[in-house]
Amino acid sequence: MSLSSPRLDALMARGAEFLGTRHAIMAGAMSWVSERHLVAAISNAGGFGVIACGAMTPALLDAEIAGTKGLTDKPFGVNLITMHPDLDELIEVCARHQVGHVVLAGGLPPGGAIERIKASGAKVLCFAPALALAKKLIRSGVDALVIEGMEAGGHIGPVSTSVLAQEILPEVADKLPVFVAGGIGRGEAIAAYLEMGAAGVQLGTRFVCAVESIAHPNFKKAFIRASAREAVASVQIDPRLPVIPVRALKNASTELFTAKQREVAQALDEGRVEMAEAQLQIEHYWAGALRRAVIDGDVENGSLMAGQSVGMVTREEPATDIIAALVTEAETALTARG
Ligand SMILES: Cc1cc2nc3c(=O)[nH]c(=O)nc-3n(C[C@H](O)[C@H](O)[C@H](O)COP(=O)(O)O)c2cc1C
Repeated sequence: MSLSSPRLDALMARGAEFLGTRHAIMAGAMSWVSERHLVAAISNAGGFGVIACGAMTPALLDAEIAGTKGLTDKPFGVNLITMHPDLDELIEVCARHQVGHVVLAGGLPPGGAIERIKASGAKVLCFAPALALAKKLIRSGVDALVIEGMEAGGHIGPVSTSVLAQEILPEVADKLPVFVAGGIGRGEAIAAYLEMGAAGVQLGTRFVCAVESIAHPNFKKAFIRASAREAVASVQIDPRLPVIPVRALKNASTELFTAKQREVAQALDEGRVEMAEAQLQIEHYWAGALRRAVIDGDVENGSLMAGQSVGMVTREEPATDIIAALVTEAETALTARG
């Protein structure tokens, strides 16, 4: 486990206490990638691993939490997607396992979800894509916020991390811990966001090529080769079918997604599907495409979700080394400031 300086520890103290970890560094949940092995490795290394529930059934999530507990006695969290049809049951599974932290992703949580999670004794983290929503979530009782900019991999909002941090941190960082995510590849950026008032940070892309990550070797190779400019946001082709953009490495699936949108838009036109169902079909498309790339290694037709920090992923290395490097870079940056 890496050591860190008193100054970095002081800046991370609030976030580390909230998470119950050595460092206030979260490994953001990544569908198919963030399963027991990566999650446990991150937590064992002093960070905070988060299981990506994604489209898992309650039974699968149950097994994944049990499996993770078998590999670490350190705290870890579970990320649930709010639009999952079995959200209530998934919350119950987390409660049965006494999971300490539940991260709700994919839009504002439905009524009662925050209360039910808190009633189990767990802390609730939500994504705040704008200041007004951050304030609304605080009123709803969330325990911490994640602000994630459009540099991030996977589903993204329209605003950059640097702007979200400037807009949101000064207004709410004194009220609850805020974790900054999106585009963080090195410790210098971590130091900067901590100094701006963040309690900690969340990184996804940087952890994909951890030795302990089960991502297919082809998926990891694509990350190691790619530069920032290859991680592009998907384009919406039909204004009537609003789809949340996804940042991924450019490949044949970029075109396949355009075709999928056309197909779903046509079904919408012809009254064969309702809007909610159309949007769900798009989400299922992503889940399937990501699985093809992460698990099967089809890096042409599968989705290579990646953030712009992908250029800073240069080799496969153990999770402990990644966290140690981030901590050392953050410390060095702080020391250089005098
Ligand atoms: C391959 C991949 C899959 C992801 N899947 C999810 C997910 O299922 N749920 C979620 O909340 N965020 C997901 N994310 C976002 C990450 O949790 C994290 O917030 C993001 O990667 C941070 O930005 P960065 O990639 O620039 O480090 C995913 C990101 C990637 C790269």
